[in-house]
Amino acid sequence: MTLQTMPKVELHLHFEGAAPPKFIAGLAREKNIDIAKIFDENGDYAYQGFEEFLNTYEAACTPLQSPQDFYRLTLAVLEETAKHGVVYAETFVSPDFCGGGDLGAWREYLDAISRAAHEAERDLGITLRGIITAIRHFGPEQAKTAARCAAETKGDFIVGFGMAGAEMAGRPKDYAYSFDMAREAGLPLTCHAGEWGGADMVSDTIRDLGVSRIGHGINAVHDPNLLTEIVEKGIVLEVCPGSNVVLGAVPDWTSHPIEKLRDAGVQITVSTDDPPFFHTTMTYEYDMLAKTFGWGADDFAVLNQTALRAAYCDDATRTKIAKKLEPTP
Ligand code: ADE
Ligand code: ZN
Repeated sequence: MTLQTMPKVELHLHFEGAAPPKFIAGLAREKNIDIAKIFDENGDYAYQGFEEFLNTYEAACTPLQSPQDFYRLTLAVLEETAKHGVVYAETFVSPDFCGGGDLGAWREYLDAISRAAHEAERDLGITLRGIITAIRHFGPEQAKTAARCAAETKGDFIVGFGMAGAEMAGRPKDYAYSFDMAREAGLPLTCHAGEWGGADMVSDTIRDLGVSRIGHGINAVHDPNLLTEIVEKGIVLEVCPGSNVVLGAVPDWTSHPIEKLRDAGVQITVSTDDPPFFHTTMTYEYDMLAKTFGWGADDFAVLNQTALRAAYCDDATRTKIAKKLEPTP
């Protein structure tokens, strides 16, 4: 077995952020939408720094205008993801990008996405689940719309609620209403924090939003008391090292705190975040962890077991995926 074929679980993958640039460029061409400025001369996504990344991301979403476009996106994303041994992925989907937050429209997009996911599971052996995700810089009112979509369409495919976007837009408590609504509907919760914000942002997120997982969370490393709290509460971090390096949240791979977090007893998992934006794949992430920290098969097995335990799918799915992670004789 190679690093690429090793079965993997990925918990932190933005749906539109996983769109291959060629797919988005092709769709834009079909619709006569001019987004040439978001691509560099090699056809890759072009941006510098986090703010511009978010702008490029949103511009890349503009050709995605119908349920059929998201059906095609689902197949394109899962084909790429499955190539790297991922057998189970959770993806952040935003009703904001699927019909502007309208519940009726969102149901049609969801139907198209889950139909494509079903076909990919049959053809490629990869299982996908969705986490409805509010976009923080769209503000607390729009987040309520996303939470309402989550509460209304929770089911076999939609298994969680979360929030991404510009971390420094407001404080976690501004979004508590939305997280409460999703929690009351029975959905488990995750939220980006401690990617750009400090340890205080992570602790406020845990206190005010009641999450069981944190997206990134790497800046928790600066506060030993917070690390103890994370360990005691069993909160799982969705760490995306390649994303952190490319966006400049950390200077380089060697200074990434993933090993320190693990040594402190924190439950960590590894994901790609927005793979084509960061020129990464799950294989590349594992390869860099092997090269930087000397991690090997046993370390990767623990990562995947942690991720499967923390996954928001039902237990029948968890049992099915567990079999795929078992070492082959
Ligand atoms: N949306 C897509 N990628 C993101 C990231 N790394 N941080 C916050 N929001 C995002
Ligand atoms: Zn993310």
